[in-house]
Amino acid sequence: MKSAIVVAAALATSASASAFAPRQSGFGHGYPPHGNETSNHKPLVDSKALQASITADALVNGSQTLLDFAYSFPDRNRLIGGGGHNATVEYLVSTLESLDGYYTVETQAFSTVVHIGATWSLFIGGANTSSGVFDYTASGNVTGNLVAVANLGCDLSDYPSTVAGNIALISRGTCQFGLKSVYAGNSGAVGALIYDNIPGDDTLTGTLGVPPRPEGPYVPTLGLTLDQGTALVASLSSGTIINANLNVDAQVENRTTHNVIATTNHGALNTTLLIGAHTDSVAAGPGINDDGSGTIGILEVAKQLAKYRVNNAVRFGFWSGEEEGELGSYLYVDSLSASGRENIRAYLNFDMIASPNYIHALYDGDGSTFNQTGPAGSAEIEHLFEAYFTAAGENFTATAFDGRSDYAPFIEVGIPAGGSFTGAEQIKTAEEAELFGGTAGVPTDVNYHGPGDTVDNLAVDAFVLHAKGIAASVAEYATTFASLPPKTAVKKRRSDEMSRSRKEGRKGRKVMM
Ligand SMILES: *[C@@H]1O[C@H](CO)[C@@H](O)[C@H](O)[C@H]1NC(C)=O
Ligand SMILES: *[C@@H]1O[C@H](CO)[C@@H](O)[C@H](O)[C@H]1NC(C)=O
Ligand SMILES: *[C@@H]1O[C@H](CO)[C@@H](O)[C@H](O)[C@H]1NC(C)=O
Ligand SMILES: *[C@@H]1O[C@H](CO)[C@@H](O)[C@H](O)[C@H]1NC(C)=O
Ligand SMILES: *[C@@H]1O[C@H](CO)[C@@H](O)[C@H](O)[C@H]1NC(C)=O
Ligand SMILES: *[C@@H]1O[C@H](CO)[C@@H](O)[C@H](O)[C@H]1NC(C)=O
Ligand SMILES: *[C@@H]1O[C@H](CO)[C@@H](O)[C@H](O)[C@H]1NC(C)=O
Ligand SMILES: *[C@@H]1O[C@H](CO)[C@@H](O)[C@H](O)[C@H]1NC(C)=O
Ligand SMILES: *[C@@H]1O[C@H](CO)[C@@H](O)[C@H](O)[C@H]1NC(C)=O
Ligand SMILES: [Zn+2]
Repeated sequence: MKSAIVVAAALATSASASAFAPRQSGFGHGYPPHGNETSNHKPLVDSKALQASITADALVNGSQTLLDFAYSFPDRNRLIGGGGHNATVEYLVSTLESLDGYYTVETQAFSTVVHIGATWSLFIGGANTSSGVFDYTASGNVTGNLVAVANLGCDLSDYPSTVAGNIALISRGTCQFGLKSVYAGNSGAVGALIYDNIPGDDTLTGTLGVPPRPEGPYVPTLGLTLDQGTALVASLSSGTIINANLNVDAQVENRTTHNVIATTNHGALNTTLLIGAHTDSVAAGPGINDDGSGTIGILEVAKQLAKYRVNNAVRFGFWSGEEEGELGSYLYVDSLSASGRENIRAYLNFDMIASPNYIHALYDGDGSTFNQTGPAGSAEIEHLFEAYFTAAGENFTATAFDGRSDYAPFIEVGIPAGGSFTGAEQIKTAEEAELFGGTAGVPTDVNYHGPGDTVDNLAVDAFVLHAKGIAASVAEYATTFASLPPKTAVKKRRSDEMSRSRKEGRKGRKVMM
């Protein structure tokens, strides 16, 4: 590819510096805003009709297509940069381009380092010892004496000179695992053991964070329990010499991937509705609920919408790299110009909408449940979905609007957002079982981030309900944003600002400190 941003569609006219700069020609004064003779003769999108065009067969068929992509390659997943994910991206581009020029389809490339998996062993004083591994650890078979690091190892001066050529033994706490691993290496250590600071039987695991880190490279790094760590520290302080061998073989690769972005060729661009889902899976499985369901849900709506005219431009964002920290959606928001950001009137996110033990959860835009409100308009978006579920005769609940999916970069810059979600790894409560059926005490998706996240384990009834909800919200906002309050200021994201979700790890993601 020629550049970071690639215009894939033959239709893209103004060859501007950014593929996402607003097109200049002809939009503006209400309808017809930016003209398209063909689309202007289509009927205005109708909510009931658009909902009716969403079928279980099409959703299952699309999901099967994604599963087939994953299973066509030995990895059997749709991890970014792999065959299964590349085929997903190509399928999205070709499907969206096959709709008689209704959309301008663009792709946006980026690269990131991915931790795919690891095997490891630890011998301490010759004894085979249980340990955990940190994502993005360096590989290596390293041997040395254990050297206890002072304090919490968050300052280079905590590392004694004797750590050089040896293994640093460090407590968890205060700063990121990644910083401890780097500081160990900067001090000459050949490996690092980080022990927990809270009691428990499970050896410490987590992520060192996506490299490169400005402070330097990682060393082979494994995790221990608090009991293991305190016993070793006690032995060392009584003068015992303890030899250790860490043998770590981690598959850490630099991968290139693409967002796919499709925008209607008519409708007012200065009040664009953006709908998003992520196209990638983790390494452990094919990711058909997470987030094949959101991908296929919004794709089906995109296909059906092409029969209609819209007042407001509608854009579909198929984000990549969500599982690595919402990379694609952050890249997209950061690549927008000031007017590009201003033009997005609302963002709707769909990440897991067919969980086998589902709940019907709406992002808590009004803060009524989790006391975290979104930008002005987010409450009204939540209320639109509430009205949809009420009309469908279904119960609904709220899910924390805390930035743990691809809506994070949008709310960070002040774009109102919302959407629906059927649950991930969290255990269904008795109250939720009353509201939604299913089984209390069991995760809402037992296959979350696992090999069982397949077509067979989708809840097709929930899938159809939520996909029709996408259709209802698209029909509403493609017609008018009158129900939203006036916009508040949209700002640029501070480049030094690390999102809450990145700091804390989103749903099920590994801890960093
Ligand atoms: C969109 O642009 C048109 C034409 O420039 C303008 O009349 C309209 O007020 C704009 N709408 C918004 C929400 O900025
Ligand atoms: C999906 O439907 C299309 C057309 O109806 C068909 O050609 C295709 O084989 C189906 N795909 C799957 C995976 O069932
Ligand atoms: C997937 O696409 C990326 C870039 O678009 C490329 O670097 C990578 O080699 C492809 N992977 C496979 C398995 O073809
Ligand atoms: C207008 O839309 C039609 C079909 O929807 C498409 O074929 C045509 O290329 C579009 N024209 C422009 C200028 O976007
Ligand atoms: C060390 O212990 C693990 C887990 O009990 C076992 O799988 C592995 O084979 C052992 N390695 C050696 C060399 O004994
Ligand atoms: C790793 O290093 C240890 C200690 O030097 C050695 O005994 C062992 O054979 C090595 N393992 C491999 C797979 O190279
Ligand atoms: C990953 O590969 C891309 C494309 O080749 C390159 O631009 C980037 O610098 C690489 N990143 C790292 C961390 O090596
Ligand atoms: C809600 O959050 C605000 C500001 O973050 C805080 O001042 C207020 O006390 C919180 N309310 C409740 C009920 O937790
Ligand atoms: C909604 O929840 C109530 C319990 O509060 C339950 O009786 C009812 O069956 C639920 N409705 C549906 C459609 O599941
Ligand atoms: Zn997801």
